This record gives sequence, structure tokens and C-alpha cells, in this order.
Amino acid sequence: MRKQIAAANWKMNLSFQEASQLLDNILQSGITPAAHQLFLFAVPFPYLEMAKQKLNRIGYEAAAQNCHHKIKGAYTGEVSAIMLQSLGIRYCIVGHSERREYQREDNAMLAEKVNVCLNHSVIPVFCCGEPLAVREQGGEKDYVKQQLEESLFHLSEDEIRKIIIAYEPVWAIGTGKTATSAQAQDMHRCIRLLISERFGNHIASDIPILYGGSVKASNAAELFHCEDVDGGLVGGASLIADEFVEIMKALK
Ligand code: 13P
Repeated sequence: MRKQIAAANWKMNLSFQEASQLLDNILQSGITPAAHQLFLFAVPFPYLEMAKQKLNRIGYEAAAQNCHHKIKGAYTGEVSAIMLQSLGIRYCIVGHSERREYQREDNAMLAEKVNVCLNHSVIPVFCCGEPLAVREQGGEKDYVKQQLEESLFHLSEDEIRKIIIAYEPVWAIGTGKTATSAQAQDMHRCIRLLISERFGNHIASDIPILYGGSVKASNAAELFHCEDVDGGLVGGASLIADEFVEIMKALK
């Protein structure tokens, strides 16, 4: 079975003390992931080392929320994939819609980010997903296809098979408006087919595709039980220990 993943994206939330307490509370629940499951925690940069120390157990990993597309140099305030690698951080979110929108990250830049991550043993959790206006016009599949083509389809087979994809429709992020399980399954199937056409079914069937956008304890099981939904990338509900623990438990 391909990996099933519950990924927390804390975004720009929590003090250091709150963050530390949240991880303690989640770990106290004592959930042990099955061999095919992974629990990821994408925390703010200053908390990576703390999170890594606490999550030092099988199936739990700290992740970064972003990295720069260049490897080093005069880029004040930025963090590179080499730095993540040197900290032992093995996962990084790339291309979250908030960065696409507020930091003007485009598909070409995200292809560079994917490359620098893979070149430094950091697995990208690559985000894609359409804004509301695109969905209202029925253009969501073409939109996501272009995101994949321009940021991932240059990769080799060995590289693409390492990637995690997160489908996050922009209209469902932080809005409380979740895609229905039918909408999620439909897009996830479409993404898997696109990967299959480009790289072959043997690769497409192994790539985890997570759903993100108002995932909560109350809707996680229904979403995760869709055939092509391999878990979730969770914002708001990942800041509440009990909620996120239920989401972890809802994985296939
Ligand atoms: P919410 O779960 O708060 O909608 O955020 C989703 C998200 O952006 C995860 O990366």
C-alpha cells in the first residue's frame, strides 16, 4: 500500500511554548503509525530543531513549510534546502497556495524548489489546487494539470517517485468549506492519471496524494477513505491536539 500521511501545517501560528505543548499533547495520545503510515509536522523554522527532538520516533517527522529556490547566498531572511538537510529535516512543503499568492511563487520557481529539495535529500510535499473563480468556470483540471506539468514533469522517474502531492483547492483553505469526498476523489484520480500518462502507472500508483482544505476530525475519515486520497494536509485543525489525533487515526 502506498504511504498514508497525516500532515500538520501550522503556518504562522503558536508561540514556542504553545508549539512544544501541542506536540507533547499529541505524543501523549500514544498513537503508533502502521508501517504504511506517516505523521508529518510542518512547523515554523525556529521550531524545527525542537520538533525534530520531540518527534524522534518511527513514523513521525518534522517538516519545513518552505525553502528558497537557490541553494545559498545573499538572500537575507531565507532558508535553503541545504540548511534543512544539515538539520536532518527530510520533508518540506513546496508551493503552498498562500506562498503562491502572497510571495508570488510561480510554477517555474516551484520547479527550482523541487529540484533543490531533491538534490539535498529533502522530500517535497508539492501543493497544487485551483482558486474559486477557476472552479466556477469548470477549469480546475486544466489548472492543476499546468501546475504539475510546469513544476514536476521535468523530473526523472527516480525523482518523481519520491514526491508527495497535496491537492488543496484554494476555496477550501481556511474557509470551513471542504471539498466533498466526490470532488476530492475526482481530482485525485485525475492527478494520478496525469502522472501515469507522463511517468507510467507503476510510479503513479505509488505516489501519495493528500487532500487539504478544511480537513477536520469530523470529515477526515470520509475523505481519507476515497480510493485516491492518501491522507491530508491540515491547517487549522492541526493546532488542536484532540482534533489532529482523530485525523491521524482516520488514515487508511
Ligand atoms: P485549513 O485546514 O486550515 O483549511 O488549511 C489547509 C492548508 O492550507 C494546509 O496546508
